[in-house]
Amino acid sequence: MPAATADVLPPHPIDRISFGKIVQIREVLLRAQAEGQRVIRFESGDPSFDVAPHVLDAIAAAARAGRTHYVPNDGIPELRKALAEKLRTKNAMEGVKAEHVFLTNGAMHALFVAFGTLLLPGDEVIIPDPMWTEVAENIRLASATPVGVPVRMASDYAYEPDAIAAAITPRTRAIFINSPHNPTGAVLGRDTLEAIIAIAREHDLWIVSDEAYEDVRYAPHAHHSTAALAGDWAPRVLSVFSFSKSHAMAGLRTGYLVTQSSLLRERIQKLLRCTINGVNSLAQWGALAAVTGPQDHIPMMQAEYAKRRDVMVKALTGIPGVRPFAPHGAFYVWTELDQSLYDRLGVADADALSAWLAERGIGSAPGDAFGHACADAMRFAFSCDTRMVEEGSKLLRATLLGEPEA
Ligand SMILES: Cc1ncc(COP(=O)(O)O)c(C=O)c1O
Repeated sequence: MPAATADVLPPHPIDRISFGKIVQIREVLLRAQAEGQRVIRFESGDPSFDVAPHVLDAIAAAARAGRTHYVPNDGIPELRKALAEKLRTKNAMEGVKAEHVFLTNGAMHALFVAFGTLLLPGDEVIIPDPMWTEVAENIRLASATPVGVPVRMASDYAYEPDAIAAAITPRTRAIFINSPHNPTGAVLGRDTLEAIIAIAREHDLWIVSDEAYEDVRYAPHAHHSTAALAGDWAPRVLSVFSFSKSHAMAGLRTGYLVTQSSLLRERIQKLLRCTINGVNSLAQWGALAAVTGPQDHIPMMQAEYAKRRDVMVKALTGIPGVRPFAPHGAFYVWTELDQSLYDRLGVADADALSAWLAERGIGSAPGDAFGHACADAMRFAFSCDTRMVEEGSKLLRATLLGEPEA
């Protein structure tokens, strides 16, 4: 009898998930950094700001007070209550109660839980193309299919209601919205959100609204929470929020999922219990201080991001074959590229350009990491500190111009 081979598995839905191009580029850069090379971290969306002192104090106090035991599965009651208050006042999401709010390990896990409780195998979810990679991956993890609707520079990357309506099929379960948008920096206006809600109502669809960047936006662009505009359709909106961007708490992995649907709440409780059984207690006490304490860091961060945005957009302007979009929100400059740039630099495509830049110590994320409609594009993040944005933008410009000093 032939010997059995030990390392064999039948195909699995997880095999459809990528390793993530941005993570691979980050690893090249981190290796270079460990070898002492100066690297420019334009690939990563991790805010440079420190966590506020009162948040750190709250974490330390909770640790010293022995608040290190198991916590309620859905989140500590004090934090759920404070977030419900924040959602009613700041986000105008009337009627939200503490029991509608579920703490998750970042918005990433909120997306996993949202799609995992909403979708059935074979369902389709409409998403913008390009879109931050992990949205499509989390839809695939639920054995469902992301359906991309291309967004275009000519219309400021608006997520067009007509294009969304045209993408609906009998299998469509939900429309996914992300405003401010990663990677383009588009911010959806009230009219667009209302038109998307009307489509959802007409076709009996759910909406998943990812508002992780609610506080990272530039005047005059305002943030509108989808659920606040949904009226009687609000129970069909699942809203996703994060402390990573608003409070620079990315490593503390704290986000939250909000739903007014009682059926979904039961499923969410079950999925939370079996995946995390409660977010890290200390991170939650820190989050409570973050949401109830002073919020003056938000305008300060917005002003600093606006400065960085202007520096980076200016540096990318006027380079042949390079078309940057000045974002209305989030902290990325989405940049469309022409063949003439690849020819001039001797690279095959945006993927090769991203690897070529990484070899020169500059991080970036190539367009096809974000979808199918945008291979000739690149995302540069300006969430690293202002000095790095200034120095890095200069280096990036010189490198793309092929200047010898680069
Ligand atoms: C659009 C969007 N949603 C959600 C997340 C996840 O954020 P976190 O898991 O850090 O809260 C990110 C992170 O970059 C994002 O860009």
